[in-house]
Amino acid sequence: MRMNNRFGLFLLGVAAMAALGATPARAEDPLDAETKARIDRYEKGPAAIDVAKYPQGIQDNYEIFSQKCTQCHKLSRPVNCDYVLPDEWSRYVKRMMRKPGSGIDSADGKKIYEFLVYDSSVRKKTMLDDKLAKATATDKTDAEAKIKEIHDKYDGK
Ligand code: HEC
Repeated sequence: MRMNNRFGLFLLGVAAMAALGATPARAEDPLDAETKARIDRYEKGPAAIDVAKYPQGIQDNYEIFSQKCTQCHKLSRPVNCDYVLPDEWSRYVKRMMRKPGSGIDSADGKKIYEFLVYDSSVRKKTMLDDKLAKATATDKTDAEAKIKEIHDKYDGK
């Protein structure tokens, strides 16, 4: 009898959660305290980037970034986060692409990645230089080559 009551309560809880929209299918899974604090800090910053001085192709990629990356959270999250290295962006863009319902295909994912690496090398240059200074020689060379490749592709076009 006791078990049945508990089970009944459990079902009631599930029904209440579903009614409130807290179904497991929601994009925002419960986050651990550290991640939540970090994300809250990111979201306090601006939710847009002034791309007027960027090359046209990077401005076009910014449009895709601002459409695709605002479906589940504010743009301020990626705008103000501490990720600046090409490999950090590659990891996070892939992580976001894999989230259910992201609707970000690999072509858009690449454009978003290129935008974020370019933008980090300009707007977050101090943070980038700091991370590069702390990286191993191999990682530094690798990161610089990836950044240069993107600048060569877009600059002056
Ligand atoms: C389908 C929903 C969804 C989309 C689309 C999405 N995100 Fe997210 N994003 C999340 C969720 C959920 C979290 C928190 C959990 C996590 O990090 O996995 C998050 C967290 C983040 C974080 C903070 C990570 C951390 O732990 O510091 C960044 C940065 C981020 N997203 C960037 C992006 C970018 C860039 C895009 C576009 C390529 C994007 N998001 C698109 C759902 C999404």
